[in-house]
Formats: sequence, C-alpha cells, structure tokens
Amino acid sequence: MIKKRLVIGVSGASGAPLAIELLKCLKPYKDYIETHLIYTKSAKQTLQQETNISLEEFINMADVSYDCDNIGSAPASGTFKTIGMIIVPCSMKTVAGIVSGYSDNLLLRTADVTLKERRKLVLVARETPLSSIHLRNLYELSQLGAVIIPPMVSYYNNPKTIDDINHHIIGKVLDQFDIDIENFNRWE
Ligand SMILES: Cc1cc2nc3c(=O)[nH]c(=O)nc-3n(C[C@H](O)[C@H](O)[C@H](O)COP(=O)(O)O)c2cc1C
Repeated sequence: MIKKRLVIGVSGASGAPLAIELLKCLKPYKDYIETHLIYTKSAKQTLQQETNISLEEFINMADVSYDCDNIGSAPASGTFKTIGMIIVPCSMKTVAGIVSGYSDNLLLRTADVTLKERRKLVLVARETPLSSIHLRNLYELSQLGAVIIPPMVSYYNNPKTIDDINHHIIGKVLDQFDIDIENFNRWE
C-alpha cells in the first residue's frame, strides 16, 4: 500500500505539546500515513520552553523533517502529493503570512501550496485574546477553505489532565482527515 503524506507544520505559538501529541497519535498509522514535519525558528523556542523533549527527539517522531529556511524542499511544490497540512500550533504571524500569500519560509510556502492545490489545510490557531486583525485573518482563511480549530478545552468529556485535554484537541484535528485515534471520547 502506498502511504499518504501528511504535512505537519509547527510554528511558534504556545502549544508545542499539541504537536507532540499529534505525532504520537499518528504512530499507530505509520503503515498508512507518512509524516512530513516543518518547524519554524520560533517553534524551536516554544518546544524548549514548554516541553521536556529535545529538538532531536521531536524531529525523530516524524518520518521526514525539513529545514524551514530551505524553500527548495519537496513540500514547496504542488507536484509533491499530500493529503493536506496541519499547522499545530499556528501563530498569528503565520496566520497573517498565509492569508496574505507572503511565503517567505517553507512552512508558509507549503500552506500556500496546500491552498492553491485545494488540499485540506487545518490551522490550530492559538492566541488569546484575539484582536480584530487576528479575527479578520482567521475569517478570511476560513472563507478560503482552511479549517480553523483553536485549541479550546472541551469539558463534556471530563478531562483530568492536560494530556487528556491535548488528546481531545488532536482527536478533533485528525477527524478532519478521517483518522480515528484511540480513547477519543465522542459525544454519544
Ligand atoms: C513562549 C512563547 C509563546 C508564544 N505564544 C504565542 C501564541 O500563543 N500565539 C502567537 O500568535 N504567538 C505567540 N508567540 C510569538 C511567536 O512566537 C512570534 O510571533 C513568532 O514570530 C512566530 O513566528 P512563526 O509563526 O514563524 O513561528 C509566542 C512566543 C513565545 C516565545
């Protein structure tokens, strides 16, 4: 079976543990899904600030990873087939870059390609409070076909830990690609 490629962009918004949770949840699907990781310079900082894992350990969780400065990498081209892209967490700077088509790094270029090829683009956009600029940009991206999933807490599933909260958010994100993760509490 040919594996499907899924691009995972990680930017410098708060929420690096969500990117780790996403890569963990995709592990059982390694025979079907190939993960392609692109992380920004600021993401390295938040990873260090918010988690206990090293950049090397993080990179090793993905099948392939790319230097965000290398604009000539494979995902920069629409001919590189993928099932879409998830940016988790997605900063407001990256949101602004995508909505204006300002593709000055590999993550932004790949998001641009994802939209132009009409592939699924999921943004786990994180900031609080949201300014009118943020809201306008997110609205425009939604109109352009991106799916906006802010990392909001669900209470109905009675989360006990931050891991529970993260797991539920990632369950919602992967639902967008019809990927069912274990122990995802759906409302029945
Ligand atoms: C610890 C930390 C937390 C941050 N949290 C956020 C955030 O939640 N949302 C956001 O839009 N920017 C946040 N920032 C600021 C971004 O990192 C900054 O705007 C950066 O330029 C984003 O670049 P990137 O989108 O290329 O990663 C944070 C920065 C740091 C150091």
